[in-house]
Amino acid sequence: VYTRTPLIAGNWKMHMDHFQAVSLVQKLSWTLTDHDHDFDKVQVAVFPPFTDLRSVQTLTMADKLELTYGAQDVSQFDAGAYTGDISGDFLKKLACTYVLIGHSERRSIHQESDDVVAAKLQAALRHDLTPILCVGEGLETRQAGQHVDFTLQQLRTALQDVDAAAVAELVIAYEPVWAIGTGEVAGPADAQEMGAAIRQELAALYDTETAQAIRVLYGGSVKADNVAAIMRERDIDGVLVGGASLDDEEFANIVRFEH
Ligand code: G3P
Repeated sequence: VYTRTPLIAGNWKMHMDHFQAVSLVQKLSWTLTDHDHDFDKVQVAVFPPFTDLRSVQTLTMADKLELTYGAQDVSQFDAGAYTGDISGDFLKKLACTYVLIGHSERRSIHQESDDVVAAKLQAALRHDLTPILCVGEGLETRQAGQHVDFTLQQLRTALQDVDAAAVAELVIAYEPVWAIGTGEVAGPADAQEMGAAIRQELAALYDTETAQAIRVLYGGSVKADNVAAIMRERDIDGVLVGGASLDDEEFANIVRFEH
């Protein structure tokens, strides 16, 4: 029994062409419909590249799908001379529910600082998009035993200007960088350790009720055969899946982790 509604999210990163993206959404929705998936019980979201969002919107509207979707990033700015940026306003008009904020690939490859991440989080909230704030440590930090301090520091900086009413809407994804795309999964106990630490920090920053309402996801080499063990942890409310979300059957099996 879950007190928070589980969320299974698929981050497609910069994979697949447009036609493969359309076909993946269709296959996924047929498979889940075939299995009578209850989207109120376990929510499902996909994160395609920006250029696929319009088609995903059309498909979900046409088929009245309860599959939700979001973008992988958003500009910290609302409008103006920001070549290459995509504003929260654009995403809202494409009926996105979520947006990933501060994914480790944005932080490392595009040098997004904690402050930029905080500004993007604010941008998402301004446009009524649910941010999925990604936090997590690299290998050296983990080996030095500093993973909890490091991750909570990322959390505090990102939430610096977020008030209690807004934070309750937020989703947090713990993605240890050393477990992303490496096949190296943090054990369920590692995921739980951080899930509990994040919730404790949220209780200190806000209050217990708020901390209990916020969903914490785990991400990093999640597959159909390891998802159930992760989902059994009490402070983990879902998963953010990379590689394994690109295959419709594998991802559908992750969504159906209870079966
Ligand atoms: O955002 C999801 C992600 O970074 C994990 O990727 O391929 O290890 O599941 P993957």
